[in-house]
Amino acid sequence: MAKEKNLEDLFHDTLKDIYYAERKILKALPKMARAAQSPDLKGAFERHRDETEGHVDRLQQVFELMGKRPQGKTCEAIDGIISEGEEVMDAFKGTAALDAGLISSAQAVEHYEMTRYGTLKRWAEVLGMQDAATLFGQTLDEESQTDKALTGLADASANEMAKAA
Ligand SMILES: [Fe+2]
Ligand SMILES: [Fe+2]
Repeated sequence: MAKEKNLEDLFHDTLKDIYYAERKILKALPKMARAAQSPDLKGAFERHRDETEGHVDRLQQVFELMGKRPQGKTCEAIDGIISEGEEVMDAFKGTAALDAGLISSAQAVEHYEMTRYGTLKRWAEVLGMQDAATLFGQTLDEESQTDKALTGLADASANEMAKAA
């Protein structure tokens, strides 16, 4: 029979998953900022890149709270979401639809992060790790604000620009 595993094991595995994902996102965001045509969208990606450094830092604090060293574990989901984003960047390069495409790719990233942080926050509460729950809550708020800001940029111009061309 398989060795017994518990919520703490799930928590630790998921922490490694999002740690890998955040570091991957940290590398992807500058490329998206360079690709973006609208200065507002560029700015949004640059700001979120800076916030993402804070997300990596908070995850390192959670590893520390657990007495574990920070370690990532390949996350196929984020690899897939980011490579689809790169496909959009290539396929729509130089077109009026590029920004709308970039926003949709970035929102897929944000939503992935939101599911991870939502789960981790809840598990941290169940495990009595209140400090970790607070850290996850802070990051979750920033992911959610970013998602909303991206919707705002899509509504304000990117979608209409893509449609009109
Ligand atoms: Fe993040
Ligand atoms: Fe994010």
